[in-house]
Parts: sequence; C-alpha cells; structure tokens
Amino acid sequence: MSIVEKFMTMDYGPVPEDPREALAWLDRSGRRFSHFINGTWQPPANGGYFDTTDPSTGEKLAAVSQGSLADVDAAVKAARAALPGWQALTPHARARYLYALARQVQKHSRWLAVLETLDNGKPIRESRDIDIPLVARHFYHHAGWAQLLEQEFPGYTACGVVGQIIPWNFPLLMLAWKIAPALATGNTVVLKPAEFTSLTALAFAQICQEVGLPGGVVNIVTGDGSTGEALVKHPEVDKIAFTGSTEVGRAIRKATAESHKKLSLELGGKSPFIIFEDADLDSAVEGLVDGIWFNQGQVCCAGSRLLMQESVADILIGKIQNRMNTLRIGPPLDKAIDIGAIIARVQMERIQRLVDQGVAEGATCWQPSIPMPSRGLYFLPTLLSNVHPASVVAQQEIFGPVLAAMTFRTPREAVELANNTVYGLAASVWSESINVSLHIAAQLKAGVVWVNGTNLFDASCGFGGYRESGFGREGGREGLLEYLEPIWFKEAPPIRAIPLAIDQLPERHSNVSAPPIDRTVKLYVGGKQARPDSGYSMEVRAADGRLLGEAPLGNRKDIRNAVEAARKAESWGKATAHNRAQVLFYIAENLSQRREEISSRLSDIVGKKQAEQEVSLGIERIFSYAAWADKFDGAVHNPPFRNVALAIKEPIGTVGIVCPADTPLLGFLSLVMPAISMGNAVVAIPSEKYPLITGDLYQVFETSDLQGGVVNIVTGRMPELTKTLAEHDDVDAVWCFADEASAATVKALSVGNLKQTFTNEGREINWFDTKQGEGRWFLEHAVQVKNIWVPYGE
Ligand code: NAI
Repeated sequence: MSIVEKFMTMDYGPVPEDPREALAWLDRSGRRFSHFINGTWQPPANGGYFDTTDPSTGEKLAAVSQGSLADVDAAVKAARAALPGWQALTPHARARYLYALARQVQKHSRWLAVLETLDNGKPIRESRDIDIPLVARHFYHHAGWAQLLEQEFPGYTACGVVGQIIPWNFPLLMLAWKIAPALATGNTVVLKPAEFTSLTALAFAQICQEVGLPGGVVNIVTGDGSTGEALVKHPEVDKIAFTGSTEVGRAIRKATAESHKKLSLELGGKSPFIIFEDADLDSAVEGLVDGIWFNQGQVCCAGSRLLMQESVADILIGKIQNRMNTLRIGPPLDKAIDIGAIIARVQMERIQRLVDQGVAEGATCWQPSIPMPSRGLYFLPTLLSNVHPASVVAQQEIFGPVLAAMTFRTPREAVELANNTVYGLAASVWSESINVSLHIAAQLKAGVVWVNGTNLFDASCGFGGYRESGFGREGGREGLLEYLEPIWFKEAPPIRAIPLAIDQLPERHSNVSAPPIDRTVKLYVGGKQARPDSGYSMEVRAADGRLLGEAPLGNRKDIRNAVEAARKAESWGKATAHNRAQVLFYIAENLSQRREEISSRLSDIVGKKQAEQEVSLGIERIFSYAAWADKFDGAVHNPPFRNVALAIKEPIGTVGIVCPADTPLLGFLSLVMPAISMGNAVVAIPSEKYPLITGDLYQVFETSDLQGGVVNIVTGRMPELTKTLAEHDDVDAVWCFADEASAATVKALSVGNLKQTFTNEGREINWFDTKQGEGRWFLEHAVQVKNIWVPYGE
C-alpha cells in the first residue's frame, strides 16, 4: 500500500476519556443528591427524587432531589439571610471569593468536563476545550468586576436575592453566566438547573463549600419546571434571570408582571448563517460545522438557517455534503467524536417531528451515510435544502443538528431573509470584504454578529437577544447592569395617588364661571397635527375647575397610526449622532424662545413656581440629552481570540412612552429626549392631567427640524391608550411612568412580542432632581448592545 493510499484510508480508533473520577464522585455521594441550601446539603422536604441519565447510553447516573415549594422557600430564605453579610464585605473580599471559584474550577476542570459530558451527552472535546475553560474565564472576569464595582458603578446597588433558571444545553456554562455577575454585584443566588442536567451544578455547590463561600450566598435547588415556577413566584425574590425556551420565557414574564422583580430573558433563536459569493467557502463550511453541529445543534444561537448567495449555492451544498460525510457521531466521551447524543427522547422526537414537517412542506432532506451507534439517543446531521422561507423549519427553533438552507441574490435580499424571523439572537456573516460584512452586520436584528466566524463567546462581551430572543445581556458591562439598580430608585417611595384629572374634576356644568375656550390641540402623528379617529375631545380643567381647553380623545386606531408613523421614521436611528444632537439643541432653543407662554399656560395646572421650573429644567434636560447623543457610545472589547468585538449601542426601535401625570412638561422631556437622542422613534402618551402640553410641544418640534414620525403624541385616557401600546406587536419597548397598576399591565401585556418594558414600578420619581430624573439609567434603557466580532490577522 502506498503512503498516499495509507493516508487516504486512515481512520480514527476509539480514544475514550476515562470517566472513573467522575463516576467515583457520584459513588461517594451514594448516587443520590440533596439540594444545596445555606451552605449545606439538605434532602428534599417532600422526599421526592428523580433520575438523571447518560443520554448516550440511557443508563441512570444518579438521583437528584425534586424541589418543592418548601425547598425553594428554604433556599430563598437562606439567600435573604446571607444578603447583609455578603453586601457588608468589601468589593475586594467578594473579588477574592470569585477568584477562588475560578481557580477551583480550573483545578477540577477535567472532572467537571467529564461529568458534564456524562450528564449531557456533548462531546468531551467541547466540554473540555470550550465549556469548562469559559466557565473559569467567566469567574475570573467577574472577580475583576467585583473588585471595580464601586468605582465603575457608583450610585448603583445589588437587586438583592436573585432567582436563576437555566437550561440543559450548557449546564455549567449557563450557571457561570448567571452566578458570576450576580455575586460580583453583591447579590445572593438561588439557582435551579435544568432537570436533565443537574450534576455539574451540584459539583459547583461542592466547589462553593471548598472555597469557603459563606452559607446562603449560592443555593442550588434541583427540580423540574414546577420548581422553577415556585422560584419565579416567590415573593422574596428580587430578580429573575432565565435562559430557556421562548414559551417559558413568556410564562415568566406574565408571572412576574405584578411583582417588582427585575427580569432578564435569554430565549430561543433561529440565527442566520450568511455566505456571500466572495467568502472563503472552505472556511465558511468549517464555520458551519461549528455553527450548527456544535453541541448537536442544541444551541440557542446555532446558525440554523443557511443563507447562500445563489451563485455559489451548488458548490457550497457539495462542499457541505462532503464535510458532513466526514463527521463522526458516537460516544461523547470519545475524544475524536464530533457529534454526541441528544439530551432526551422527547427532544429526539421533537427534532424528528419538525424535520418531517419540513419535508412535508417541500424541503429536501439529506443525511450522510456515516456509522451510527447502536444504542443511545443520536440524530444524524441533517441538511434541509429547498426550504421555503415561510416554512416551519425556517421559522421554528429546532434545537437539533438540522440545517435549513435557502438562497439569496443580493445583499439586500440577504438582510431581508435574515431578519425574517421573530427571533434576533445571533448571526454569522461570511465575506472576504470587510465593507460588505460590516454593512450587513449593521442591518441585522441580532444581539451578536460574528464576521467570518461563529459561536464565539467571552465574558467581556455581552450576549443576548433582540426581539423574541429576549432582553438583557450576559457578559460585559451591560451584563452587570442586569443585577444592579440605582440606589435612589430602590429606596423610592410609592407614587402619590394621583387623581385622574378628567374623571375626578368637577362636572362640565359646575357653577365655576368658565372663560371662553382658548385652546384646542390635536394629536401629533407622523409630523402632522391630526384629528382623533373617535371624533371626541376631552375637557382639560385647572385645579380650580376652570376649563382650560380641549384635547383629542385618542383611541386604538390613533395609536396604530402613530406606531406606523414611528416605524416609518426609523431612518432617524441611522442619522449620525451629531445630527441628532443638533436637532435636540435646536428643540431646546425653540422651547427657550417660547418659555414664557408655555410656562404661563402650564401654571394653570401646576402653579407658577413648578411651571417655571419645569420649563427651565426641561431646557436643561434637552441640552443634556443633546450632549449625550454623541457620547453615550459603545466599546471595543478584546476577547482572548484573534478578534475584536465592537459593542455597538443601537436604538431599540419604536418605543411607547407613558409620561408622568404630575409633571406634564418635564416628565415628558425626561423620557422622550433620552429615547430619541439614542435614535428611537417614540409614541408618547402625555400627562392626562394636562394633555394640552401637546400643542406647545408640537409647535416646538415643528420648528426644530425634527423629522416627522420621530415623536408622535396621542392624548386621551391613559389606561386605555397604555393597554393598546403594550399589546401592539410592532412596538419594541414600552416605558411606563405612571401608577403601579399601569406598570403591571404593561408588563403583563408585553408578552405578545416580548417587548422590553421600563417602568417606575409605581414609585415616585423626583423629576426635578437631576440625579433621579436624568442620565445613564434612562440611556441604558434606550439602547440595546450589538456585539460584532471581527477577526484579524492572516
Ligand atoms: P424549557 O424552557 O422548558 O426549560 C428551561 C428551564 O426552565 C429548565 O430549567 C426548566 O425546568 C425550567 N422551567 C420550565 N418551565 C418553567 C416554568 N413554568 N417556570 C419556571 N421555570 C420553568 O426548555 P426545555 O423544555 O428543556 O426545551 C424545550 C425547547 O426549548 C427546546 O427544544 C428548545 O427549542 C428550547 N430551548 C431553548 C434554549 C435556549 O437556550 N434558547 C434552552 C433550552 C431549550
């Protein structure tokens, strides 16, 4: 046999990783695990256990506790009790604990990797070389943030007790993504791992003991969805962080609406993998192997939709099929295996069902003929071509090793196809032209874009979604903010009961002598004054009952028109920051010119002193946001790869804003200005107490070169309009600064498209105090960070 022939016929032999140490650890615990509560192991209160198995063999590994209400309650109480002590530590002391956790994870890295592979079925190559090193990296990075906390986040404090719920696809990595930032910011934690994969979380609990972490700072309660639900609903939890399916994310949004729990959701995805004709096709195919077959495709940011430029589609399909023929599927502990086992039978069935549905809808299914193990849960890598963009396999998250391929002709079509999904988690763009890549990256609705790469993660770079992929980020500076709140806000008292002016003020035919109506305003939609669809107006009266004027009674239709106008004004978000700053300065200038008339009208409702202050502070506030427009910018991260990650702050899109009642001008400006300074378009519901402010505002906007549709104002009954805004599926975020019930309504009704919400939680905000009424807190809610990873070097 010639050397060439030998080379061509060479194959891999089995190279199994030794599982003995991990199995011995299971044996030492009697293959039965309690919850980890208050630094000790506590058996389940109701005595219930369930089995966790090795998906590659179906064999039982151990029994873990089924967490009940009582277990969750005990864990939350332990976390609450531990909070003062944990917060009393210096940032340096907390940094040392995080550092110790990082070191201990490193020291135990192989044991953890093997245990992860046993419990999850992922190839050892991945748990050993990707998951566990990233876990350690996350704790190191956040040890640093713990150290710098007070310098970097002055005026912020921890949320308190945090409930964290994680999925089974990256069990220990997701734990690290959750626990490290929570501890670094001074929170205590109750974490519930996924029911299929509890073991490495329990191993981590042991590591917490080994480093002497104070009892109650980290609590691990195992169990299924009902345990998660108990944690979500527990009244003493201050924040919930969840990663998992969009369906459960929605349920959690709803379940927390009436509480004041802060919430972050990292949900599903259907991420595009876009290959242009000028790409290095072989590299792109290698990227694709990582994009969709990494972790058996059970990855929220998997590149599950392949979008190929038509001119190279045939060549690419050939290359992909060739590569698929060389993938090795089998026992995940074998170091030369590419594709391991699927987590559970229910997931296997779900994948098969979706593939069958795709084929029924016209897709062509191709699978390589490669050897398959005789037992265990394995699914062949699968290529679906000829997929229609509207078909179920192009739209639904499959969470398996299944790639849906489509073609495009032009870059514009690529962007359209890529964004044709309710999700927005990640995207890969392959082109040798940096101009094309970055131009496309900027247009994609996704929290992470990898240029000529895929599935790269680092603790310094935020990760999280746009649209129905959730909100909030993990990693990076923005990830820490999810676990922090302004100190003043946490301590703010409930808002004073505000009389709803319209309903509670004297009847029209009161005996107060009414002056002639001197003021009738209109709605402001798409840069034009508009009559309300209802054809009705509402009276606006001064505190003494005098009729001040009439404002339109806006309804659903008016809100819909305003949202449409805002959506059309999206080019505002692409205007340069300098441009936006100039427009804002001009608004301030024009408001300043009308200060006396506006102030005198406003004084009828809020008194002379407040009116003057609202106008003068209002002008200052506009100046502030004009100033911020070109300064609240992004960052460049240096992850430990040959990449830079450009963390770009992008506008959220169309933002509905329910303005405070008691400060009709200043409240409006304090919310609308940060939103538009960051490039959002707004539909605002002004104070119901004094909606006449709308007339003054649109006159100012009309003379200030503000593009039509950037600010739309709909007056009317606040509760009804708020509800319509919160339910509207083309609104990207709703900010509600009214009473507690409205805040709850907005959160509950946001579930349709999982829009972001930002509310005062019914608390009092002193808009006259610059520390409360202005600054980064508002700006942070006005943007979402997109991380674009760009490689460099040969
Ligand atoms: P899931 O969303 O049901 O489970 C994730 C976590 O939430 C688990 O810890 C689970 O116990 C918990 N949970 C379930 N119901 C809950 C509730 N009502 N309240 C609080 N916690 C609850 O995901 P599952 O069933 O494991 O997978 C189903 C599908 O979800 C997958 O096929 C995949 O499409 C998607 N998925 C997406 C993930 C992602 O990272 N984007 C992760 C896991 C699943």
